[in-house]
Amino acid sequence: MTQFDPVKSLNPHIRNLPSYDALEDLEGLVSAYGLEATDILKLDGNENAFGPSPKALAALQTNYDPGRYADASQIRLRSAIADYVGVQPKHIVAGAGSDELIGLIYSLWVSSEDTVVTAGPTFGMYAFGSALHGSNFIDVPRLGDWSIDTATLLAAAQDAKVVFLASPNNPTGNQLQPELIDKIIETGALLVLDEAYIEFTQTESAAVRAASESALIVLRTFSKWGGIAGMRVGYAVSGERSIDAMLRAKQPYNISTASEAAALASLQDTEILNERARILVKERGRLAEIMNQTEYLRPSTSDANFLLVQVLDGRSGHEISEALRRRGIFVRTYNDDRLVNYFRISIGTPKQNVRIIDAIAEIGDKDV
Ligand SMILES: Cc1ncc(COP(=O)(O)O)c(C=O)c1O
Repeated sequence: MTQFDPVKSLNPHIRNLPSYDALEDLEGLVSAYGLEATDILKLDGNENAFGPSPKALAALQTNYDPGRYADASQIRLRSAIADYVGVQPKHIVAGAGSDELIGLIYSLWVSSEDTVVTAGPTFGMYAFGSALHGSNFIDVPRLGDWSIDTATLLAAAQDAKVVFLASPNNPTGNQLQPELIDKIIETGALLVLDEAYIEFTQTESAAVRAASESALIVLRTFSKWGGIAGMRVGYAVSGERSIDAMLRAKQPYNISTASEAAALASLQDTEILNERARILVKERGRLAEIMNQTEYLRPSTSDANFLLVQVLDGRSGHEISEALRRRGIFVRTYNDDRLVNYFRISIGTPKQNVRIIDAIAEIGDKDV
């Protein structure tokens, strides 16, 4: 009898699955660069530089029972999120980060026969989900100013089952052209509008609209505005029929009791979280201005808590990243051909940004 071979037996489309380019672990970085953990400025993950809100931190000390399963129906959490968003709880489902919800959308609506469309460069989980499900993936390249090539995208959407668009987009930081929402829905595709960074913009969320529209799913998260990326809480807002399908298919206890407590407490701390978002937005403007005054850096306009920065003096994003790493500052670089001369940096607290500004001045001289 031949023994089961876990590699040979993989579903054919999984055999060449590209690995997701996840963040490096802090401890690994500490030992690789001979730094103290406290010296490291980790600005590669677009987490919230201020961390969790005070009430979330307090709730994590006391406010949950690790011995119990969480509520599979997410009654309290969905109701609190619904109040925050301005819709009814029946229009909300929470996931272990928006990442889980992206996976759930693939499981529910995308087969290997289907086409999925996005506009890159963009968040990697859309392509990853497609590779995992063996679907046809069309990445419509963004234009030079990172705006979406609407004609090409809409043509591709005609045959698509799902269109994933992030607004603001990661890593480019810009928002989508609002008229695209209607036009994509008119093609008959499901539009997944990922608003992970919406709280850093002046734009009104499309979440309220999504509640009356089963062909529109808005994804939001506690990882960026909420400062609890490690707790993994995201949510989808959509029409009741789409949300029902997601509720039926999700893992029953996908939000841990600790994560639920942290998210509920964050929603009682919105004033502080909003104030922190305002500070980050102001700091984003300050950093962009300073970078624009250097000869070698050009940040793209951003509506999120990060900047995508072009390096103009011939050095690659990787080279700048290495120079920053030696100074304990970690930023994100890319293997995408369009982004070879770019790096992405999350906005720090005002104090952290002083360190960034000093480092930028130092490495402006090519030899350091
Ligand atoms: C556009 C976008 N969507 C979703 C996520 C992931 O969010 P979550 O932590 O809720 O899984 C990210 C994280 O970087 C992102 O940039």
